[in-house]
Amino acid sequence: MSNWYEKSFGEDYLIVYKHRSRQDASREVARLQEWLQLQEKQLILDLCCGMGRHTIALARKGYSMVGLDLSRVLLSHAVRESEGLAIPFVHGDMRALPFVDHTFDVVLNLFTSFGYFERDEDNLRVLSEIHRVLKPQGQFVMDFLNRHAVEQNLVPESVREEDNVWIREERWIDGDFVCKKITVKDERGERRYEERVKMVEYPRLRQWMEQTGLTVVQAYGDFAGHPYTKESERMIMVGCVNK
Ligand SMILES: C[S@@+](CC[C@H](N)C(=O)[O-])C[C@H]1O[C@@H](n2cnc3c(N)ncnc32)[C@H](O)[C@@H]1O
Repeated sequence: MSNWYEKSFGEDYLIVYKHRSRQDASREVARLQEWLQLQEKQLILDLCCGMGRHTIALARKGYSMVGLDLSRVLLSHAVRESEGLAIPFVHGDMRALPFVDHTFDVVLNLFTSFGYFERDEDNLRVLSEIHRVLKPQGQFVMDFLNRHAVEQNLVPESVREEDNVWIREERWIDGDFVCKKITVKDERGERRYEERVKMVEYPRLRQWMEQTGLTVVQAYGDFAGHPYTKESERMIMVGCVNK
C-alpha cells in the first residue's frame, strides 16, 4: 500500500473522525432529499460511502442504496451498522466503478471524497465514471472543500483526546494540495497517517464536470442551503447529466 488513501481509512479513522456523526448525516440527508427531490424508487450510489453514514440514513428513509468504498475496514462497519437493511456495500475504486453504464438515478460523493489523486487525469476519471454510471436523467451531489475557506481557516496544529486515544493533527498547504499528518497514540503504540487533497476550485471543478458530461445546476456553501461564495464553508455541487 503506497498511496495515503489506501492507509488512512481504517480503524483509527473511525476514532479521528468520530465527531462527524450519524446525526450530521441525517441532517445532510434531509437536505439532499430536498435538493434532489428524491423519488422513492430511485437507485442511489453513495460513492466513497465510508462507514455508510449517509447510505444507511437514506436506506432507512426507503431509498434503494448502494455504497462503494476502497476501505474494507469501513465497509465492514457499514455492513454491521446496516443489518436488516440489505444494502449492497461494494469494494471498489472510484476511478473504475464495477457497475454497468446508466445504472443509477443519483450519485452522491460526500464529505471531501474527491481530489485524492496527484494526477488530474485520475481526478477527472472519477467524474467520467460518475457520468458513465448515471442514467441519462441522472443527478449528482458532490460535497467538497472550499479552497479559500481552507486557506483562511487552516489550523496548523491541534491536539485532543478521544476515548483514551491521543490525536495530533498537523495541517499545511503544499501548492494546490491541503495536507494533514495525523498521529494517533494509545496503549497499543503510535500510528501515523496522512491526507493529501487537491483543492480544486469552483471554476475548474465546474469545467471538469462539463468536460465529462455533467452540468452544475446549483452550488451551495453549506448544508444549511446558503448559496456558494468564495467565503463558504463548503463547496457543494448539485447537478445532472448534460442534456
Ligand atoms: C473522507 S471519507 C468520507 C466517507 C463518507 N462519505 C462519509 O461522509 O462518512 C472518504 C472515503 O473515501 C474512500 N476512498 C478513498 N480512496 C478511494 C478510492 N480510490 N476509491 C473509492 N473510495 C475511496 C475512503 O476509504 C473513505 O471512506
